[in-house]
Amino acid sequence: MQTNEYKDIMLSFEEYTSKLSVILPKIYGRKPLACVNTFGCQQNVSDSEKIKGILENAGYEITEDDENADFVLFNTCAVREHAEDRVFGNIGRMKALKKQREGMLVAVCGCMAQQQRICDRVKNSYPYVDILFGTRHAHKLPEYIYKRLTGSTRIFDISEDFSGFLEGMPIHRDGKLKGWLPIMYGCDNFCTYCIVPHVRGRERSRNSCEIIREAESMVAAGFKEIMLLGQNVNSYGKGLSEDINFAGLLEKINAIPGDFRIRFMTSHPKDCTIELLDTIARCEKVETHLHLPFQSGSDRVLKAMNRKYDSAGYLNLIKEAKKRIPGVSFTSDIIVGFPGETYEDFKETLRIVKEVKFQALFTFIYSKRYGTPAATMEDPVTRAEKGKWFSELLQVQEEISKRNYASYVGTTHRVLCDEVKENGKLTGKTLSAVEIEFEGDPALLGQFVDVRVDRFSNILEGTKL
Ligand code: SAH
Ligand code: SF4
Ligand code: F3S
Repeated sequence: MQTNEYKDIMLSFEEYTSKLSVILPKIYGRKPLACVNTFGCQQNVSDSEKIKGILENAGYEITEDDENADFVLFNTCAVREHAEDRVFGNIGRMKALKKQREGMLVAVCGCMAQQQRICDRVKNSYPYVDILFGTRHAHKLPEYIYKRLTGSTRIFDISEDFSGFLEGMPIHRDGKLKGWLPIMYGCDNFCTYCIVPHVRGRERSRNSCEIIREAESMVAAGFKEIMLLGQNVNSYGKGLSEDINFAGLLEKINAIPGDFRIRFMTSHPKDCTIELLDTIARCEKVETHLHLPFQSGSDRVLKAMNRKYDSAGYLNLIKEAKKRIPGVSFTSDIIVGFPGETYEDFKETLRIVKEVKFQALFTFIYSKRYGTPAATMEDPVTRAEKGKWFSELLQVQEEISKRNYASYVGTTHRVLCDEVKENGKLTGKTLSAVEIEFEGDPALLGQFVDVRVDRFSNILEGTKL
């Protein structure tokens, strides 16, 4: 991005933040409350932390309760139809609330809002939505709110004029132990079923010095787990003037002094290198876990999906990772029922699942996304049939999960104690991202402790040593 453009944006951000902070107490006679409802992936959760920071900075108090908020924002996801339906249901709830609450504003942003057809639908059928913007303009939120509160007509902004990102924005982190750290935005891969590149724009990597600075400040603030985020972290560095790749970035973050862990998602098999696997093995703070979505085991379907690897290449990668990274665990995303997929193709997916023995799977029935190439492909298999395949996949994985769990019994792991569960027990994750439940003092939260696995139910259960 041009330095002047960046400066202008920051100036305008600061100008509207201060204008808004002046009028808010006058309008509401108190500190107004803002609620941000987040749908979708970790990228959205991380964006919402920035949005909350921007709102707080302008004079709002952040609340989780949208029924009593003066400003309610929905940060939306478009990845599957179900996600969109849920959002519309929630926006609908605002109609009655807004009637009862004078001065209340309702806003919608994020991946779903970035699409023209959704923008039109909100404009025409949801007159109580005051502001809509997409994935690129969170920094303009103080301007939108200020304008709307001072008499502007409803605001709709899904322009793609700005595809950079701003460093140094305020941030309201939800947690104190585990934090998100985006290393890149957007996606260039255009898998044929996926809406993400269409709504998030082209891939842009952040400068490593900005990432390191943020990681250092998180460690200094007491964070024990940093989750590096990107749609395809393995291609980090592409397009930057500095000579760095994801392995190099991991080395740099690993070198920050302190007792903390580094996690990352999502890895794309086509860009996962042996250099990266060796770096993961060498860097003691980096998790020994790969979330490596393979989507389908059929080479024909993978080609139609534009995934740019085949099943043999994927299995070879898994073999190399097992050889190089002691104790490595794998998780994956799978789509069942891609247009044209046959039961024979689906059996290839089962073959990979059985061979790799994933720790966990995130499984989805294909959902047609308007504007993607797959949406125009023939899709003769019925939803009911796809549902049967889906259940078969879940059953196969359930057996594998049990066997995986059984292999942990008797082993000892260093876990980051990160949650007290409703049953009063503590849980923590191993370096390989497997959760263990155990009895212990809640004062252990945030500490690394050694736990021996004794048994398992739907979770590993153990004893603190
Ligand atoms: N960038 C990541 C994933 C982003 S979306 C990657 O490439 O792996 C998360 C998951 O949603 C995808 O891995 C895919 O399994 C699923 N998904 C995306 N589009 C979908 C669609 N149209 N229907 C069903 N599942 C989809
Ligand atoms: Fe979507 Fe593919 Fe990009 Fe992942 S890599 S976000 S599945 S287009
Ligand atoms: Fe959904 Fe956007 Fe993430 S479409 S999955 S919130 S990048």
